[in-house]
Amino acid sequence: MSNTIIKSVRARRVWDSRGRPTLEVEMALRYGATGRAIAPAGASLGSGEAVDLRDGGGAFGGYGVDKAVAAVNGAIAERLKGLDAADQKAVDEALIALDGTADKSRFGGNALIATSMAAAHAAAAALKLPLWRYLRGDGDGLLPVLLPLPEAQIFGGGVHAGGRVDVQDFMVVPVGADSFAQALAWSAEVYRAAAGLMTEQGRLAGVADEGGLWPAFDKNEDAIGTLVKAIEKAGLKPGEDVAVSLDVAASSFGAKNRYRLARDGVELTSDALSGLLVDWVERYPIVAVEDPMAEGDKEGMIRFTWAVGKRIQVIGDDFLVTSARRIRAAARDKACNAALIKPNQAGTLTETQAALAAARKARFGAILSARSGESEDVSVVHLAVGWGVPQLKVGSITRGERTAKWNEGLRIADALGGKKGGDGPLPARSAFPWKK
Ligand code: PGA
Ligand code: ZN
Repeated sequence: MSNTIIKSVRARRVWDSRGRPTLEVEMALRYGATGRAIAPAGASLGSGEAVDLRDGGGAFGGYGVDKAVAAVNGAIAERLKGLDAADQKAVDEALIALDGTADKSRFGGNALIATSMAAAHAAAAALKLPLWRYLRGDGDGLLPVLLPLPEAQIFGGGVHAGGRVDVQDFMVVPVGADSFAQALAWSAEVYRAAAGLMTEQGRLAGVADEGGLWPAFDKNEDAIGTLVKAIEKAGLKPGEDVAVSLDVAASSFGAKNRYRLARDGVELTSDALSGLLVDWVERYPIVAVEDPMAEGDKEGMIRFTWAVGKRIQVIGDDFLVTSARRIRAAARDKACNAALIKPNQAGTLTETQAALAAARKARFGAILSARSGESEDVSVVHLAVGWGVPQLKVGSITRGERTAKWNEGLRIADALGGKKGGDGPLPARSAFPWKK
């Protein structure tokens, strides 16, 4: 398609939700269509992720992106000119070959993912399609379009809250909602109720990096208890309407056989941490636990999945780093049963899609996820809808970089509803097949 031929690629430095530099890539096609995307950035990084290239030095705490911007404006722009933006695989293969490193450390996974996503945006614009519709392609024409089931953060902890509590995300999954709109409305009611409880206890202290309430708790478990109370206070049934999910992000407070829960004043073996988490799963309406063990603790992951994997989602984030190879290995080892899918961990859309395909083949759950460092970019929502990913995790229901994404989901739901009479049907039952 000649109107999707790449004419120019340009990067600029923009700012993320932590006030750090990041890069935006803008791609222009032959007859004037343009597309742009902004790279997100994690704080609790898996060591196997595509490298987030930073300048180092004194400016911006070393987080400058001049090198990544220069890579796009130089070698990448030169190489992509004349390629077809609608041939995502060709664009991504060119990027991968040009970078030439296994971890994308030459040009940076941040430069590559922003370029890769900009190509998709530009091609969709040339074809006059919303990105999700473009990504869906023609092959799935007869299948219903489903909105992803949200996973919304209520308390933010771990490295997103200065280590105030050890567990990173205390989230809600509105498993009983009938639509995307209802799922968000319930999440917002729980957030309000949780803020009310924190106020009553004199613990309200602002928000963490992803907009969840600051976790001013004396123990990690208190956050779960308060979250369940908040669900009830919102008039919803814990576990039936709205369930709890945790991202333990265990790599940030421990490694194989040595986990230090500073807030609880204990140091645990892998086995003991597993026991503690299993106990929480038994006593609270928890439907998913992400990264229960550190990224290198495969035995711990296997042990925990053996204990609860038939009842809940055991999600690999740092453990899988959106790698098709690691997902296949985890399936073989039964080390988890769901994959967090973060495009910038993989570095290109093609590799992200390969990870998703591996997750599907393994019958894993899949959750499309944003990062803790975000922007107004809403690509992840379109990827989730277009690729039919059953769940979406983009942080809390406050802060503009979060609401930008939830609200984009509402727009898509509305557009679909106009045709089908709903307001965004959810794959809730298929995401949690063990729930009625
Ligand atoms: P990150 O956190 O973006 O800081 O890595 C998100 C997560 O761990 O899921
Ligand atoms: Zn995580």
